[in-house]
Order: sequence, then structure tokens, then C-alpha cells
Amino acid sequence: AAGSGRAQDLAGLRVVISAGGTREPLDPVRFLGNRSSGRQGVALAVAAADRGAEVTLVAAHIDGDVLGGLSDGVKVVSVGTALEMQDAVTDAASVADVVVMAAAVADYRPAEVAESKLTKETQGDRVTMELVENPDIVAGLAAGRRSGQTIVAFAAETSSGDELLQRARRKRERKDVDLLVVNEVGWTRGFESTDNEVVVVGRSGEVSAQASGSKREVADAVWDAVVASRR
Ligand code: CTP
Ligand code: CA
Repeated sequence: AAGSGRAQDLAGLRVVISAGGTREPLDPVRFLGNRSSGRQGVALAVAAADRGAEVTLVAAHIDGDVLGGLSDGVKVVSVGTALEMQDAVTDAASVADVVVMAAAVADYRPAEVAESKLTKETQGDRVTMELVENPDIVAGLAAGRRSGQTIVAFAAETSSGDELLQRARRKRERKDVDLLVVNEVGWTRGFESTDNEVVVVGRSGEVSAQASGSKREVADAVWDAVVASRR
């Protein structure tokens, strides 16, 4: 649905947004996870739809009340693990003009998933677990991007100031994405909150946007940066 009065500057574009946090199973009842709520990704989806885009949201473990904030017309694909997210995002990206990876993807997954529940009886009082690295989904998308396709990554960093910016530039370069949206997080900030504060770094290392406020305001600033980078 079009937002009244808002520029339809994403009209005709297909966008894919990943959001939430992947969960990597250890056994039938346990997983390795993270604190991402998916709120920023849902705000990105709502903003994109308002601005005229055709939106697919690849959602990993986003609560129903958060997903309930989505507008009609946003297609939702639900996934669990990083490997499932890779499949779903890569599939949707094949016809997308813009892909925004806002999801918190687990860097590692258990090397083996136990068939039955792990017990203290068999494990003892000290446990070592082997983890293997998950594929870097967004780096893979960037490496395979079609001409005219824009790839956007997010990064949550615990550093601040100059160090934050340097890390962001290195990360953008390493993944070869068009834009990297970075925000500062900590034990008490960033997650599960309604507000956010971000810096967007572009291809030449420049700060292409800066925003703080509601997740919707931040989402609109990210789309502004996407539109500007495609001109
Ligand atoms: N990402 C991804 N696939 C992964 C890990 C991360 O696509 N296996 C994406 C995230 O969705 C995000 C971006 O990469 O858009 C940055 O995630 P981040 O965790 O900051 O980057 P990492 O390369 O995992 O670096 P770090 O060691 O700092 O966690
Ligand atoms: Ca990571």
C-alpha cells in the first residue's frame, strides 16, 4: 500500500530484506541464537512498501507481534538456520534490484547436531563443542551480483567513534557491498529497543548517511542512501 504523500521513489523496484536472528540447533530442543528482534528489518520492509517497492522479507525467528507491524503486500518467507536463510535469500535475490541483509546471521553452527537431547549424564560437568563457520551470505550475494543490483549489509559493533568508522570501512570492503549500515550496540543498547542510531558507509568509504531516531526514521534514511547510490 502506498503511503499517502510519500515519494514513490522505490516504485518498480523489487527489494529483498532479511531480518531477525538465525538459530543453529544443538539437539532437538536447544539452539545457539542471538538477541536480534527483527524490528529494524520490519521497519525497512514497511518503509520500502510505502515508497512503492515490491518487498520480500526473509524472516528468521521474528515474534508475531513484531511481524504484525508489516503492511499488507509484503511477502514473508520464514527460515530458521543460516543455511536456510542463505537458500531463501539467494533465491529471492535472483530477481531483486536491492538486497538488504539486516538479519543477525550466526557466524558458526554446531559441527554436529545431536539426534536426541544432550544430557548431563553423558556430557559431564565441562563441555567442549565444535563449531563450524557458516557461509557469509551477503558476501556471496555481492560476489554474484548482477549489474544494477544494490547489496546492503548491516553491522552491529561494540566500538565507537573513529574506531567504529574504521571497522565499518574495512567490513564494507571485505564484503564488497555497496552500502554498510553500522550501529553501535552493547549490553544495554541497540537490541530490543524501538530507537536506533546508524551511520551508512558507501563504496569510497564516505559516510553517505547518518540517522538516529525511530527504526522507521532510520529505515527511511537507509532507503534514501540506496536511492542516492543508484543514481
Ligand atoms: N552476514 C551474512 N552471513 C553471515 C554473517 C553475516 O550475510 N554468515 C551479514 C549480516 O547479515 C550483516 C553483515 O553480514 O549484513 C555484517 O554482519 P557482521 O556480523 O557484522 O559481520 P561478520 O563478517 O560476521 O563480522 P564479525 O566477525 O564482526 O561478526
Ligand atoms: Ca558476525
